[in-house]
Amino acid sequence: MRRSLFQYIIRLFPAEVTHNIRLAMLRFAGYLPFGKWGLKQTLAPKDVSLEREVMGIHFRNPIGIAAGFDSNGDYLAELSASGFGFVEIGSVTPRPQPGTPRPRIHRLRKLNSLINNSGAPNRGLEYVMHNVRRRNKYTRNLVIGCNIGKLTTTPQKNIVKEYLRVFRNMYQYVDFFVVNLSCNTASKRYVPRSREEILSLIEPMFEFRRGQLDYRPILVKISPDMSHEELDMVVDILIETPLDGIEAVSGSTELATKDKGAMCGQLLTERALKVVRYVAERSGNNYPIIGSGGMMTPEDVARMFEAGASLVALSSGVRENGLKLLRAAARKIVNNNA
Ligand SMILES: Cc1cc2nc3c(=O)[nH]c(=O)nc-3n(C[C@H](O)[C@H](O)[C@H](O)COP(=O)(O)O)c2cc1C
Repeated sequence: MRRSLFQYIIRLFPAEVTHNIRLAMLRFAGYLPFGKWGLKQTLAPKDVSLEREVMGIHFRNPIGIAAGFDSNGDYLAELSASGFGFVEIGSVTPRPQPGTPRPRIHRLRKLNSLINNSGAPNRGLEYVMHNVRRRNKYTRNLVIGCNIGKLTTTPQKNIVKEYLRVFRNMYQYVDFFVVNLSCNTASKRYVPRSREEILSLIEPMFEFRRGQLDYRPILVKISPDMSHEELDMVVDILIETPLDGIEAVSGSTELATKDKGAMCGQLLTERALKVVRYVAERSGNNYPIIGSGGMMTPEDVARMFEAGASLVALSSGVRENGLKLLRAAARKIVNNNA
């Protein structure tokens, strides 16, 4: 995808500053009279053939925003006006978490990739709840997913309680949940990888959900560094339990060997596609998969759907190439389906 002059200029700043400028511009555009209308006209895909029904939820299109982009749900109205099919907020933790000291996102300019060592900064459950509780005319029809993460400081014995606390409090305000099983880059000590550990996190959620009137799908987000045996184990959990789907993948710590953090962007693309293809095949193409990882161009997004994803979540692609990636990717999918 060719970058405009503006995209070149904005990438002269450090990666986190680039992202914050982009968000500030989005906010400014949203404030202008007819601003949200303008965003919709210039950025949002319009073709009705993009509509999807996944996990019992209606999506106006299958391309959304991944966790870490709008962690606190501060830009939901603007992202909705820009046309994203869904926004995954989070990772949300029970209490605010400042994350790792800056600079914590390292740009590999020539390789079109980012190394994320941000440590899931977010303003905590109460703040995020306040944001998603007040849906307005712009966000009423937006599909919102809540990614649940772990506080860096939480001792292992309290993790289950903390995940459940976020889940229960957010239950009535969002449309689906993603349990982050991948590495919080600042706390490599705990990554739940055994069947027992994963079940201990999600089974209390299934139990809580059984007592509710509304059904909220639960997915787990997996690391691209899992072995085939670990992927098989997650797929078995998907088939054998009420788990609704898998999000694959988060950043790769294995690919970022020399640096602290997780590799995102172009260097992750092939591995993300491989994991999604493997999970889709192992699960007989019968379960929802949110594909994420290295979705930098419309062609990457099209390949992710071909690999077996039902939905695609963008992250580094929008951070580095801008919001127009959504419309370009949507156009590619429509053309491929024509
Ligand atoms: C700066 C940054 C922060 C992120 N924060 C989170 C997070 O809080 N929780 C999470 O599950 N994933 C987080 N991610 C991972 C993304 O959601 C996504 O899975 C990953 O970046 C791979 O996609 P990409 O290659 O398109 O960026 C973050 C990624 C970046 C670049």
